[in-house]
Amino acid sequence: MTPRTVRNAIRHAEYQFFDELPPPSALLDEVIEGLTEEPKRIAPKFFYDERGSRLFEAITRLPEYYLTRTEMGLFDVCLPEVHDRFGEGGCLVEYGAGSTVKIRRLLEELRPRAYLPVDISRHHLEQSAQALHADYPHLSVYPMCADMTAPFELPEVVAGLDKLGFYPGSSIGNFEPGDAQAFLRQVAATLGAGSRLLIGVDRKKDIGVLEAAYNDSAGVTAEFNLNILHHLNSALATEIDPAGFRHRADYNEESGCVQMFLECVKDQVSRVDGRIIEFTQGELVHTENSYKYGFEQFAELAKGGGFQVEASWSDPDAYFTLFLLRAQ
Ligand code: AVJ
Repeated sequence: MTPRTVRNAIRHAEYQFFDELPPPSALLDEVIEGLTEEPKRIAPKFFYDERGSRLFEAITRLPEYYLTRTEMGLFDVCLPEVHDRFGEGGCLVEYGAGSTVKIRRLLEELRPRAYLPVDISRHHLEQSAQALHADYPHLSVYPMCADMTAPFELPEVVAGLDKLGFYPGSSIGNFEPGDAQAFLRQVAATLGAGSRLLIGVDRKKDIGVLEAAYNDSAGVTAEFNLNILHHLNSALATEIDPAGFRHRADYNEESGCVQMFLECVKDQVSRVDGRIIEFTQGELVHTENSYKYGFEQFAELAKGGGFQVEASWSDPDAYFTLFLLRAQ
């Protein structure tokens, strides 16, 4: 036996990688569809190549970006209560495996038997899943590379375990409210009736605070936004010049979301898979919405998505709320 097998035999923990990622051609079709619409758009999932994931981690440490540190501040009170309700030995399903800082807290305090991160960025997913597999000897790790915005099924290996979904960071804000509800329905179906979802939601607040969080003085968010073009160029062989665009982020009070755009600074023509795409000066290419929710507004949305609010935790300023939802 190699040392590795011995260790595995003692710890009864497994590692298995599930690859369900749509082929690049399907992703390219999606990009072309967005760039041939009026107004043009690129979906936020294309932010997260390796560099994009690193830039996002840098965003979470920015002084203006209160979301991550506020959410993590809630863990001290929230996680012991989730532990009491959920018990140990279940399966933790993380939607979008970002930085492992949050998930380490959950693994340590909730002690699930299995951890199943779902993420579109294969390399990032595999690296963080392997690090966690090495650091938590009793934990089975089943990374799944998939587009979580499309329906997928959990693998057989976790069939008998209670499920707790984890969708932190207010990433739910990327969806239009109707799509968020449809997404929650899909999550409820994937995890099964009686399963729980711990979800982080950014709240409506002062516009100045919101806009500063997406227009940081160090310019990291601008880099992150522009990186979406570098990613498309390298992964899908599009030919769009990132130097021809600048970062824009504004709070749209009417719709209740921060909207990010790439503003075209000069007329330009780009090639995307043999097609010609024209950009005109001043044109805005939409890259992301970050919806902000009122407490009741989100509770209602969750209800329509097949979940009841079981518990919730908010900071004293009500900047951010963690909801523990239960699938009906
Ligand atoms: C990961 C989607 C929650 O909307 O705040 C951060 C991404 N975009 N800065 C957010 C993001 C610009 C983030 N989410």
